Amino acid sequence: MRTQVGIIGAGPAGLLLSHLLHLEGIESVVLEDRSRSYVENRIRAGVLEQVTVDLLNDAGLGGRMRREGLVHDGIEIAFSGVRHRIDFRELTGGKAVTVYGQHEVVKDMIAARLAAGGQILFETRATAFAGIDTTRPRIAFEHESGTGAVECDFVAACDGFHGVGRPAMAHRLQVFERRYPFGWLGILAESPPPSDELIYASHESGFALYSMRTPEMARLYLQCDPDDDIANWPDARIWAELHMRLDDGERALLQEGSVLQKGITPMRSFVVEPMQEGRLFLAGDAAHIVPPTGAKGMNLAVGDVFVLARAIADHVRTGRSERLHAYSQTCLRRIWKAQRFSWWMTSMLHLFPGATPFERRVQLAELDYVTGSPAASKALAENYVGLPFES
Ligand code: FAD
Ligand code: PHB
Repeated sequence: MRTQVGIIGAGPAGLLLSHLLHLEGIESVVLEDRSRSYVENRIRAGVLEQVTVDLLNDAGLGGRMRREGLVHDGIEIAFSGVRHRIDFRELTGGKAVTVYGQHEVVKDMIAARLAAGGQILFETRATAFAGIDTTRPRIAFEHESGTGAVECDFVAACDGFHGVGRPAMAHRLQVFERRYPFGWLGILAESPPPSDELIYASHESGFALYSMRTPEMARLYLQCDPDDDIANWPDARIWAELHMRLDDGERALLQEGSVLQKGITPMRSFVVEPMQEGRLFLAGDAAHIVPPTGAKGMNLAVGDVFVLARAIADHVRTGRSERLHAYSQTCLRRIWKAQRFSWWMTSMLHLFPGATPFERRVQLAELDYVTGSPAASKALAENYVGLPFES
């Protein structure tokens, strides 16, 4: 099989790259280990930055997002029993975020690729590469009925944190990593929203986040031990802990409903440099992970493939390679700013095991400052709605 760009992974990064290349008249084939229904129902991120929303609209992928997405003009930050609002529109000159599940974005992208005759090979696992230092790299793959190979001009490993792209260039990568001594227990619940906006709560029992997917469906998170077993968390215990951390004093904020999904995710910050070797490019979670407190994971994946699509298109059109060579450096400037923001939000809002009373007071002072000072609120808002893509 021969194509111009071989893409591994039908997550947001791989699918958007394939779509953006198509808009430039460049062919690609997407290899995806899982089934279509699996990737379309995988509940993950939910907050789209303004720049991501603008890009999806410009690329013709925004129709359902505009109808069904929930536009949020701000967030609330709760601590010491009081909720404080950060008004994005006012602080950023009119920008906002949109709450629209990652799996909905994935569904829209798959539909658009298939409607345009795009090739996505589901249940097909990339296994190895050859010739990434040549102009004719190959991806070997396997699927139920046997093995095969994609010959291409470029390989984009958009295959997530556990993919095969990063290990293939591991010998020349520098790894930057930080692990946090907590994880997030997340649930999806049939529970109508008590608030139109997300609530980030720094509570004496630990962090909690109120988010949503639809006007009937809440997405809720609790700080927990990263090694805890979800079996230790029957629904009643989860609700009790959520009430304690999110309710307004004695007034119940949350309405309990059926829990449709639950799981524990450890938290880490992770970046590899560079994100490229020869004709193999890493994009999205394959190259970097952020703790979810800044709501940046999927947005960073989108930013990477925006840069990569332009670089490949420039090369195909003009034969020039400057943008391709600059890919890693261009992406990393934005990635490190999002890493900083995600680390900062995480450090400000979570209880660190073993923190001294002094450290907790400093955290509370920072929360008071961030919510009370227009300058500090503006810095949070500017980062939360998303820094501009560079190209
Ligand atoms: P992915 O979405 O991981 O896509 C990679 C794709 O590659 C997958 O479909 C995978 O099946 C496929 N693949 C892997 N290996 C191979 C192979 N060898 N051959 C073929 N295909 C392969 N971010 C937030 O902002 N908020 C959240 O609440 C949040 N929750 C998350 C929960 C979980 C459990 C995880 C894992 C991530 C979460 N994230 C969250 C992060 C966010 O979802 C990711 O940043 C985003 O999915 C990145 O997109 P991607 O396309 O780079 O990778
Ligand atoms: C979510 O809705 O899943 C979500 C929202 C905000 C975050 C993380 C996750 O910071």
